[in-house]
Amino acid sequence: MSLVPFDDRDGQIWLNGALIPWRDAKVHVLTHGLHYASAVFEGERVYGGVVFKSREHTERLFRSAELMGMSVPYTVDEIERAKAQTVAAQGFADAYVRPIVWRGSEMMGVSAQVARINVAIAVWQWPSYFDPEQRMKGIRLDVSQWRRPAPDTAPSAAKAAGLYMICTLSKHAAEAKGFADALMLDYRGRVAEATGANIFFVKDGVIHTPTPDCFLDGITRRTVIGLAKARGIEVVERAIMPEELEGMQQCFLTGTAAEVTPVSQIGPYSFEVGEIVRALVADYDGAVRQRMAA
Ligand SMILES: Cc1ncc(COP(=O)(O)O)c(C=O)c1O
Repeated sequence: MSLVPFDDRDGQIWLNGALIPWRDAKVHVLTHGLHYASAVFEGERVYGGVVFKSREHTERLFRSAELMGMSVPYTVDEIERAKAQTVAAQGFADAYVRPIVWRGSEMMGVSAQVARINVAIAVWQWPSYFDPEQRMKGIRLDVSQWRRPAPDTAPSAAKAAGLYMICTLSKHAAEAKGFADALMLDYRGRVAEATGANIFFVKDGVIHTPTPDCFLDGITRRTVIGLAKARGIEVVERAIMPEELEGMQQCFLTGTAAEVTPVSQIGPYSFEVGEIVRALVADYDGAVRQRMAA
């Protein structure tokens, strides 16, 4: 993990329409987004200088903002250009992109109807989300005590900052016990996802993954479902109960940051890093690199 603080780096950040020096991209402590979590964001990866599925991410950013009642003061095309400009300015071939939209400082209180909607885009190098040495051996997950909320409790289809409160709590608790991450159940007690990635299982050659009805239907998730189907592997999206984990043979996570990461253990259950998981790690790598060639 890098020890260089994120507010003290070289480079540029796109803020409300222009690139500015990295260290100047600051907000005031009295910012609505900070106090009331009125913020939505994206996480994207650059491969060979090109953002993978860039427009899909930008469109999701706009949908997330809309679900939070925020109108982004730019068009999708303008944000697409701003991302490309920021990636080029940072000059990394492989990198991570973080666009964020938040309510500003004009109003402080639960209501912030006329607070400005701000947009920033930062690009930095983030090579591997999980320990690279551990990754292909399969990471170990704890089971979180926190659950994904019901869709009528929070706008669960939005990549909203507030929804990450439970993720950080879960991940910190798991890390304190020596696990890499945590599996979160949903409000009904069904298997949902990890704290920053979707989850898949393999049983007898068939892939099973929870229906994303109260958590993010990840862009990587959909990409990997497409890759599995292209290999002729059956993919079943359904409700999965935690006790079913006992019969699952392979397990993996998908996410922009996590890419395709094998899982070797969840609580008392063990999984092999089998053929299907290894094939999908390779296929995803191929897909993002092919995109790079295109
Ligand atoms: C909570 C959560 N679920 C799922 C995902 C996977 O989404 P995507 O594949 O679009 O990155 C992410 C990552 O952004 C996430 O943070």
